Amino acid sequence: MHPVGPADAAGDGMIVDLREQARAARIAVPSPPTALQRPALGTWTGRMCNEYRSASVFEALATQLADTLGEDHEAVTTVRDFADEERKHGVLCGAVVESLGGQARAEIADPPPFPLHADAHPLEGALRNLLSVSCLSETVAVSLIGAEREDMPDGPLKDLLTEIWADECGHAHAGWKLVAELLPDDDALKQRLGEYLAVALGHLEVHELAHLPEDAVWPEGANTWGLCSGLDARALFYETVEGVILPGLERMGLPANRAWAERRAP
Ligand SMILES: [Fe+2]
Ligand SMILES: [Fe+2]
Repeated sequence: MHPVGPADAAGDGMIVDLREQARAARIAVPSPPTALQRPALGTWTGRMCNEYRSASVFEALATQLADTLGEDHEAVTTVRDFADEERKHGVLCGAVVESLGGQARAEIADPPPFPLHADAHPLEGALRNLLSVSCLSETVAVSLIGAEREDMPDGPLKDLLTEIWADECGHAHAGWKLVAELLPDDDALKQRLGEYLAVALGHLEVHELAHLPEDAVWPEGANTWGLCSGLDARALFYETVEGVILPGLERMGLPANRAWAERRAP
C-alpha cells in the first residue's frame, strides 16, 4: 500500500528483520505439502514486508494530518495507532513465516517517498492521501483478506488473520469517515479530487494486479495456508472497486465513476 504522488519512486533497499519478535509469536501451523512450502513462505514473507511498509505510510499520514489539522486533532492519534497496528501485522506475518520453518527477514526496496502534494492546498493534499490509503488500498485489503479468512479452516492461522482483518476494517472505516467529515462543499475541489482519483485508481489497479498473478492456481486445501486463486482475487478486486469504492465516493459527491473510466497509471 502506498499513496500516489509525483515523488512516487523506489529507492535502493533495506533489510526488514523481525526474527526475534516473530519467533516469540510463533503459532501452530500445519506443515504444508512439499509443493506448497515455498509458495506459502513467499506469500507470508511478502505480506510481512507489505505490512512493514504500511507502517511508514501511516506515520507519514499522521504527520501530514498533524500539520494540516493540528496535533490535537483526534485523527492524528488514530492514524499513529494504525502505524503501530501495521508494525504488529508485520510481526504476525513474520510469525507465520517462522512457524512454517522460514526466517522473518527480507530485503525490500526503500518505501517510496510519501507524497505531500505540494501542488495542492494542504487540506486537499491530505484528502488525496486519505482517499488513496483508506478509501482505496485499505478497502481492497478488507475485501481480499476477508475472503481469504472465510475460506480458511478454523485454527490459529485463521485467528491471526482475523486479528489483522479486524484492524484493516478499522483503517478503512476511519479514512472513509474522516474524508466525509473533512470534504468541503466545494464543487471545484471535488472535480480536482476526481482528476486525482483517475491516477490513484489507475495506480491501484496496476499495484493490485501485480500482487495477484493470474497463474496463481493451487490444489484443493491450499487455503489452509492462505494461498488464494489469483483469478478469484482479481475478480473480487474489481467487484470491490465497482461495487463498494466507486459508489461510496460518488455518495460524497466525488466523480469517481468518471475517474475509473478514465483511470491511468502514473
Ligand atoms: Fe495491515
Ligand atoms: Fe492496514
